[in-house]
Amino acid sequence: MELASRLDKIPPYLFFEISRKIQEKRKQGVDVISFGIGDPDIPTPRHIIDELTRTAQDPPNHRYPESDGLPETRKAIADWYKRRFQVELDPNKEVVPLIGAKEGIGHVALCLIDPGDVAIVPDPGYPVYSVGTWFAGGECHFVALEQSRGFLPDLAGIPESIAKRAKVLWINYPNNPTGGLATEAFFKDVVAFAKKHDLAVCHDAPYSEVTFDGYRAPSFLQTPGAIDVGIEFHSVSKTYNMTGWRFGMAVGNAKLIEALTRVKSNLDSGIPQAIQYMAIEALSKTSDEWVAANNEIYRKRRDRVVSVLRDMGLTVNSPKAGLYVWAKCPEGWTSAALAAELLDKHGVVVTPGRGYGAHGEGYVRLSLTTPDARVEEGLKRLQGWRIPAAPPAR
Ligand SMILES: Cc1ncc(COP(=O)(O)O)c(C=O)c1O
Repeated sequence: MELASRLDKIPPYLFFEISRKIQEKRKQGVDVISFGIGDPDIPTPRHIIDELTRTAQDPPNHRYPESDGLPETRKAIADWYKRRFQVELDPNKEVVPLIGAKEGIGHVALCLIDPGDVAIVPDPGYPVYSVGTWFAGGECHFVALEQSRGFLPDLAGIPESIAKRAKVLWINYPNNPTGGLATEAFFKDVVAFAKKHDLAVCHDAPYSEVTFDGYRAPSFLQTPGAIDVGIEFHSVSKTYNMTGWRFGMAVGNAKLIEALTRVKSNLDSGIPQAIQYMAIEALSKTSDEWVAANNEIYRKRRDRVVSVLRDMGLTVNSPKAGLYVWAKCPEGWTSAALAAELLDKHGVVVTPGRGYGAHGEGYVRLSLTTPDARVEEGLKRLQGWRIPAAPPAR
């Protein structure tokens, strides 16, 4: 049996590999503390679970759902965008629910990319932007997210020959993994760039509600002209601790939403309806106070993690949004060497930045989705440990 050659390009999914390593260590009896994947440890709020329990009893919800979601689901998404961002969306043309943002991010490449076409992809970045492009037969032009530029891509530095061939520009703010934030001026530049080069913009914004220190993240769709060129991906995963239920959404340009719905309706069978009712409940009934209190848990962890990492001699920005601390490795250390040393010496898992692209090298990422007691145990192990001047030979 021969597998399709497109698989040769696709590395094993980053966190699949990390989970395997953790399991190996645990088998050896190591008490591993993971700051790896960004998967909220705090439960989904009770009122949302109650809605699942209630709607799961109703036989119509046991049948195939429609790929474009229930009308009331699309309306709840549009209402949330209006309330949160003052963005008006037509629920029947400019909204499609997803089986998590990841599903739509992967599938949208099939709407935009023909074999040989180019996608402009941030580096470091969430791996699905590039993997989706490759599955569609396209090529990625990676643009560096440099700390010196606030982790915003240099659009003016993209060669004309690439911009001409590009079909899509991927952006993601608040950014995973760097914690970078978009400015209004940046979003305006993105719209101008997309119009000049006649390309689509896909903005991935699942962390817009996980913010600290009074910061409020904008939607790309608030930018004049954005809906002419792009769509935004969002999700209930991070805001409401709902990663396991699988619910996200794409909103914006009607032509792109129609294309994505067409791809989805041919490949998947929608989101189980009881889960759609959970998402409606989450988006329409969760108070702003609950979201703020949830974020406060992450804010406290962020402060503890940043302070211990700085004591260890690492250079770290304190992020104003997202679930991650992006720490610069000391001179002489690769991200893999530092991650291996932390795992072997302290049983602490961090994600090597190289896993997010070549420009992620030199950084490690720590997720803040570990329970408080485990964060404290992990930090206790690291407290007072000074990183040696050079990594040991392995
Ligand atoms: C940048 C980014 N986009 C999308 C996703 C996927 O979110 P969802 O759970 O909605 O599929 C993640 C999850 O970690 C992410 O970090």
